[in-house]
Amino acid sequence: MNVIQRGKARAYRTVDFDEAANAVRLIEQRLLPHRFEVVSTRTHVETAAAIRDMVVRGAGAIGATAAFGLAQGAREFKGRGLAAFEKHVGRVFERLKEARPTAVDPVNAMVEIRRRMESGGTIAERQVLALEAARDFAEEDVRHCREIGEQGAPLIREGMRVLTHCNAGWLAFVDIGTATAPLYAAQAAGRKFHVFCDETRPRCQGASLTAWELHQQGIAHSVIADNAAGHLMQRGEIDLVIVGSDRVLGRTGEVANKIGTYTKAVLAKRHRIPFYVAIPLSTIDWDLTDGMQIPIEERSPTEVLGAWGVDESGKRRRVQVANPGSGARNPGFDVTPPELITGIITPVGILPPRQLWKNRERLV
Ligand code: MRU
Repeated sequence: MNVIQRGKARAYRTVDFDEAANAVRLIEQRLLPHRFEVVSTRTHVETAAAIRDMVVRGAGAIGATAAFGLAQGAREFKGRGLAAFEKHVGRVFERLKEARPTAVDPVNAMVEIRRRMESGGTIAERQVLALEAARDFAEEDVRHCREIGEQGAPLIREGMRVLTHCNAGWLAFVDIGTATAPLYAAQAAGRKFHVFCDETRPRCQGASLTAWELHQQGIAHSVIADNAAGHLMQRGEIDLVIVGSDRVLGRTGEVANKIGTYTKAVLAKRHRIPFYVAIPLSTIDWDLTDGMQIPIEERSPTEVLGAWGVDESGKRRRVQVANPGSGARNPGFDVTPPELITGIITPVGILPPRQLWKNRERLV
């Protein structure tokens, strides 16, 4: 998507690969919206750290980063023999997988890359195949997001007020985004609407990232405190909810997404407001049989006890908000059951969550 810098628009992708330097190129998301910077990770160890430390975040974006990280790690190999090479790639896979546990996209992406590598007879061939497969994953991510836009755009009617949670925009993917794709497509079709961005404590991806994206794209929006959505729904000020997901269970239709999503789904049901989840196919987990099996990332209590921002001089600072000496719990995600979800917006159509399994041949 376009980023406006010093009055000029320039197209960027969230994740890219520099083949000559064997480096992954990432938008440094922790600095947004106050500073726009692209950074390079020069080894797969640095790439895994960038996922863990949330330089890059969002299921699709960390999927593509892990895909490039696996190819990067494969290309780092200096030893001899296919068996030693495969052992090395296995270690790279595990390191990238462990960086963040809830999103399934990194695992799905890397499993597919390893499958494609198998057809190479030499180390050099497998290294080439790994990078080709990683590039294909990134391209597919962009294509899926564009198709989600086409499928979801009719849901966004003139004058609507749409609520979204966290950031499932282009910063959470390689480009375009999922929850934002129908919004961008509706905007391109000339429709006017308003987006409410949940602030999304504790890391505030809604206030910092989604609001920045919508501002860059010229879409009318307001940031609301996480606790304000129920009040707005009760007063008839929200017509539709669209969120993304880090893992959708193909067998049950349960949806893991940023903490607070479940609360919004309960509220939407209570107020008869349609609640949609937009996902590329890499977000579907066909194995797990129960949402309670989804690994939920527990993050540092310091995120809840304080907040990051910039001061009047533009310097980035963390401030302590909570009572010094108090502890905190910080689960990063929650699971929304299918009965609270109107539809899953996929690249191939909008499906009720419990219909995913029946349609699995179209969804792989
Ligand atoms: O912790 P984050 O910022 O990686 O969480 C992101 C979200 O929860 C998004 O809503 C989610 O990834 C779905 S869109 C890719």
